[in-house]
Amino acid sequence: ALLDDAPKPLAGKKAIVTSGPTHEPIDPVRYIANRSSGKQGHAIAGALARLGAEVTLVSGPVTIPDPAGVNLIHVESAANMLDAVTSSLPADIAVFVAAVADWRVATASGNKIKKKEGEGPAPLELTENPDILKTIGHHENRPQLVVGFAAETADVVSNAQAKLARKGADFIVANDVSPETGIMGGDRNRVRIVSKDGVEDWPDLSKDETAARLAERIAGAF
Ligand code: CTP
Ligand code: CA
Repeated sequence: ALLDDAPKPLAGKKAIVTSGPTHEPIDPVRYIANRSSGKQGHAIAGALARLGAEVTLVSGPVTIPDPAGVNLIHVESAANMLDAVTSSLPADIAVFVAAVADWRVATASGNKIKKKEGEGPAPLELTENPDILKTIGHHENRPQLVVGFAAETADVVSNAQAKLARKGADFIVANDVSPETGIMGGDRNRVRIVSKDGVEDWPDLSKDETAARLAERIAGAF
C-alpha cells in the first residue's frame, strides 16, 4: 500500500536503462568481458519504475534477480545491446549504466579454438565496439534526458568531464572503482554528478539509495 500511494512524478515517461557487462565471443566457449555485477543499473531501473516510469532494462549477462515492474531485454554483446536500445526508442529518459566491453574479437571463431602442441596461442585481433551512449546522445530520436556513467580508477572528474562532452550526455555519474574502494561487486557506491553546471559530491550510500536519489534527480529534470 505504501508503494501504491507513493507519488509518481515519472508517470507517462518512458525510460531505457542499460546494465551489467557485455560478453564478446572469442569462440563458442570463450568471451571477453568487463567486471560488472549489474547491481547499480538494476537498482536504477527499479527506482525509476517506482516513480512511475515505464522502464525497459537492457541487461547483459548477470546473476542477480530481475527487478520488479520493468520490461527486461536480455542481451549478450555490445552489438546486441545497441540493437535492443535503438529498437526501444523513442524514450524520454535513457540511463547507460552497463559496463560495455570496448573491444570485440574481429572475427569470432565458429568452432572452439584448440591448443596446438608446441605452438603458442594465436594473437586475437580486436576491433572497437559501438559506443551505445554516444550513439544515443547524438541520435535524431535522442531522449530528452541522457545520463551516462564513468567508472574510473584515476582523474575521476576530468575523465567524466571529457565523457560528458564527447558522448552528448546531460550528466555523468562518476565514481572511483579502484579495487580498494570495494565498489565493484559491492553493495555501496560513492558517486559524483558531473554536468555543465559543475560537480556534486554525493555521500557514501547503498547502491539502492544511490539509485533512489538518482531517480529523484531525474524526475526533477522534467
Ligand atoms: N558506454 C556505452 N558503450 C560503449 C562504451 C561505453 O554505452 N561501447 C557507456 C557506458 O555505459 C557509460 C559511459 O559510456 O555510461 C562511459 O563508459 P566508460 O567505459 O567509462 O567510457 P569509455 O568511453 O568507454 O572510455 P574508457 O573505457 O576508455 O574510460
Ligand atoms: Ca569503456
